[in-house]
Amino acid sequence: MNDPHLWWYISRASAMIAWALMTASVLWGILLSTRVMRRVDNPAWLQDLHGYLGGSSLVMVGLHMVSLMIDSWLSFTPSEVFVPFATAFKPLPVALGILAFYLLVAVQGSSLMLKRLPRKFWKGLHYASYAALLLISFHAGFTGTDVGTLWYKIVSIALISVAAIAVILRIVAGKRGGTPRRTDAAPSAAPLQSTLRTMVVASATAVADGVVGIRLELPDWGVLPIWQPGSHVTLHLPNGLQNQYSLCGDPANRHHYDIAVLRTGRSAGGSAWIHENLVPGMSLSVSGPMNHFELEPAADYLFIAGGIGITPIKAMIESLPAGRAWRLIYAGRSRQTMAFVAELEASHPEQVIVHASDENLGGLDLDSVLGGPALTAAAQVYCCGPESLMDAVAARVSADRMHLERFIPLERAARPATPIQVTCRKSRVEFTVTAEENLLDSLEAHGVPILGSCRKGICGTCEVRVVEGIPEHLDSILDDTEKDALGVMYPCVSRAQTPALVLNI
Ligand code: FES
Repeated sequence: MNDPHLWWYISRASAMIAWALMTASVLWGILLSTRVMRRVDNPAWLQDLHGYLGGSSLVMVGLHMVSLMIDSWLSFTPSEVFVPFATAFKPLPVALGILAFYLLVAVQGSSLMLKRLPRKFWKGLHYASYAALLLISFHAGFTGTDVGTLWYKIVSIALISVAAIAVILRIVAGKRGGTPRRTDAAPSAAPLQSTLRTMVVASATAVADGVVGIRLELPDWGVLPIWQPGSHVTLHLPNGLQNQYSLCGDPANRHHYDIAVLRTGRSAGGSAWIHENLVPGMSLSVSGPMNHFELEPAADYLFIAGGIGITPIKAMIESLPAGRAWRLIYAGRSRQTMAFVAELEASHPEQVIVHASDENLGGLDLDSVLGGPALTAAAQVYCCGPESLMDAVAARVSADRMHLERFIPLERAARPATPIQVTCRKSRVEFTVTAEENLLDSLEAHGVPILGSCRKGICGTCEVRVVEGIPEHLDSILDDTEKDALGVMYPCVSRAQTPALVLNI
């Protein structure tokens, strides 16, 4: 503390660290918003890291401002530090720095108050981060006492380059990406084919009345592809059926996939076959995982699960970091039929509300659930379960915060079918699909490498990118506007509004 220049050194160091942290925070935020990092790890902690970087940069900016006032040589007055153009020393660059500070305070403050602010307002304000970073760059470039030194030039060029790359990445990904609800690139058929793998049943145990929990591993206990909560895999059963099941284990475990299968009377026989025939040691063909029920970063969540619909919700809950606000309404006929109910209640007694029909008189009162404290203004609502439950929840929650996963196709009104001239750009084939023919069947018949599974427009396996033409969406996956923004369609049920379609397959 005897060095008379100590606070001068601190002001220089804190300024550079703040600039670096701010650049890293913006880069990290861009990677999150474009879902680049979603493919490699848990989005929840990545989102938190973005916040920590931004918060730390603000702390460093504060230290920089304080050290400017404490240093006996610089001796800025509080008004010179906090009021633009109050100083005679390089007034414009200093003012830009002060403005950047206020923008950072607004961005960080809005993130801290995310629960109380409309999400759109928070999002709009968040874009001020770009302006703050730009202002910081100008401020640092024109006011720093180290400006002109070689090391300063190198650091400045590196930080500005990283920021420029991040912005370009955002623009490019934004153009390709689509909506914030789901921005996974549309998988082409070839990768889908390559996801078909042989797996071994490691265990099959009852997890509730009529529900068997199944653990699948690679034969050599190899490493499995990363998956995100909400993902499902398709089991290709020996009886020819293909059934989709949500993954309900820990996404961090790369050596097995966990699913739970309810024996249903209305199934075509897939769940019955599993319950009657599947035993440990048996090999199965499994494709996926695919995800059409992504868990978006949010400050608060309301999960509503009905019966076996708990499976994707369980994985979502387990992936959330400690301290994240959420509630689960878990409804079922009785606790005996509700998979994982005991462990969820034991692990999260404050957040899990169980509604077992045999314990509660009357059905689940959605009006009081969705009108009560469980649904905060900031909560995103994720619902999976019987169609009646999902329809009832969807009727009460605005579409911009509602996330559903359907396993039964919606009844959608279709226009009278007309012939479609189809061009498959990558396969270089052209053909006409008559009004009576199914588009997916025709693609397969012409040798186009596409994979179908449910053939009802619910699993997403047949997803294909549309290059030209307007599809007529008849599936039950995502909103039609989201599909159009992503430029995808599901040809197992969908057709075309235009006479011709060009597909990127
Ligand atoms: S095959 Fe399932 S959505 Fe088309």
